[in-house]
Amino acid sequence: MKLQLIHVPFGLGAGRAGTELGPGDILHAGLVRQIRNLGHDLADDVWVSCADKPAAAPAPGERLKHFAEVAEMSRNVCTEVSAAVESGAFPLILGGDHSIAIGTMAGLAAHYPSLGVVWIDAHTDMNTEATTHSGNMHGMSLAIALGKLRSFSYADIPGAGPSIKKGNIVMVAARDIDPGERELIRKEGIACFTMHDIDRLGIHAVMEKALEIAGSGTDGVHLSFDIDSVDPVEAPGVGTPVRGGLSYREAHFALELLAESGLITSMEVVEVNSLLDPSGRTARLAVELIASMLGKRII
Ligand code: ARG
Ligand code: MN
Ligand code: MN
Ligand code: MN
Repeated sequence: MKLQLIHVPFGLGAGRAGTELGPGDILHAGLVRQIRNLGHDLADDVWVSCADKPAAAPAPGERLKHFAEVAEMSRNVCTEVSAAVESGAFPLILGGDHSIAIGTMAGLAAHYPSLGVVWIDAHTDMNTEATTHSGNMHGMSLAIALGKLRSFSYADIPGAGPSIKKGNIVMVAARDIDPGERELIRKEGIACFTMHDIDRLGIHAVMEKALEIAGSGTDGVHLSFDIDSVDPVEAPGVGTPVRGGLSYREAHFALELLAESGLITSMEVVEVNSLLDPSGRTARLAVELIASMLGKRII
């Protein structure tokens, strides 16, 4: 398989600094060597230019913090992801905070009009400008992809595909959902497998159900992997840690099953924040998990 790495050093969608260093930290942890060991080819890396410093400090109570920077980054990510799909490569996008998923899915949807999405995350990122309590746009990317914000949608991104269909989305590992998000998920009937479901059914059954949802009637399946889905014991370097997450093996097994399915057509890894993890283990975990998703087997 030919892979296209797309680096998005953007952190202004998050409430704390550091995720903009994610691509560099993941590379430093040995990603390219892992990919080569698995026998994949790599196209030349693409670095998406994005604002590293805000043009202005967000006003107190602002509903969409750093909106201009997020919108610009989303347009650039959309362009690069779209070009990668056109070149025939598997796009592997490295964030950055989870707001980069706005541009990723916009670009993918241009090629896969019925895109399936597997969203593995402690959060559901389903806030809108009406429900957010933080104003941080990394908590809104999925709502934007569904066309649920009044002030920003895929219509504002040149070259973007259509909004993602709600029946094609599945969330896995959720355990911190805001009241407004819960309401929206219920109202839209979006599939959401929480940690409670994983405890009850096991990660194997949950991933089979998730693949069924994202993989049937769709023309491509994107994996959006927020590293804070993994328990903070294994992944301490994240801006919004939530206890009670995926164990080390649950995370690997989930990605091994996705790899085995042969259905995944793109992947992004977001929210690695090594400023909050001097040990560097979060970035190393990201590399190991990417390897599992790209076909690494124990034997
Ligand atoms: N729900 C919270 C918010 O909207 C946290 C979102 C965290 N999102 C993330 N991608 N880490 O601010
Ligand atoms: Mn997220
Ligand atoms: Mn999260
Ligand atoms: Mn919250």
